[in-house]
Amino acid sequence: MSIIACYSSKGGVGKTSTAVNIAYAASMDKKRKTLLIDLDQQGASTFYFRVRPPKQHRPRLMLSNKNKAFKAIRETDFKNLHILPANQTYRNFDALLDSMKRSKLRLADLIDEIGYGYETIILDCPPSLSLVAENIFRAADRILVPVVPTTLSKRTFEQLKDFFEKTGYKKKSLCPFFSMVDKRKRMHLETIKDMRKSEKRLLKTAIPFRAQVEAMGVHREPVINFAPKDQSSVAFLQLWKEIRK
Ligand SMILES: Nc1ncnc2c1ncn2[C@@H]1O[C@H](COP(=O)(O)OP(=O)(O)O)[C@@H](O)[C@H]1O
Ligand SMILES: [Mg+2]
Repeated sequence: MSIIACYSSKGGVGKTSTAVNIAYAASMDKKRKTLLIDLDQQGASTFYFRVRPPKQHRPRLMLSNKNKAFKAIRETDFKNLHILPANQTYRNFDALLDSMKRSKLRLADLIDEIGYGYETIILDCPPSLSLVAENIFRAADRILVPVVPTTLSKRTFEQLKDFFEKTGYKKKSLCPFFSMVDKRKRMHLETIKDMRKSEKRLLKTAIPFRAQVEAMGVHREPVINFAPKDQSSVAFLQLWKEIRK
């Protein structure tokens, strides 16, 4: 089983779009059984897959009772792809973890219990650098970090690396990649050139800025499914191929 997080402490950088599409790509790849875990109170990946969480779906219940977590897992419209949905009660996830023993290992414990039988687990993460994030860092084998090629996004990634250094997490697991790239923008081109020189961990694949990715909100399915030939779909598939090793 491999656990791949789509994480950044910054919002709106493409975490959810990436999680949804690489989860779909993984499930199509040799029929790997794939579980997408939505950890964000906005429930955007839950929405994209047209799933409703159970009425009494609460992180508290899920973490303390594995049967509740099992029962909350939903099938999607796609074979081999399941989702553990999120709702607004996830806004209290941090406070909840803080009140528990093994507060940094709860997500890893949960995945140990419910992940059996899945080859790939994808985490769609909230934008924070708090306890939920530390749970993610401990649980994930790889952390995909979308970086929009702008000064602030680059800085966010530098801060994440610093945090890993100070706290002793393995920087090896960090896999930054460019997201929402617009080659008409000079700042994008310059930031890409600059970071390619200095950041060896950068993945080769870059996701272009494309209207079809935004249209996922209308179609409510992965862009790879409704527009397979779009440059963004080709790039998301490429991203999956690059990281599946
Ligand atoms: N490659 C892209 N091209 C165009 N729009 C994108 C792209 N990636 C994300 N978006 C749009 O940007 C917004 C934020 O993306 P999202 O994946 O939800 O980011 P996050 O999960 O990091 O907050 C959404 O409206 C989404 O449709
Ligand atoms: Mg998101």
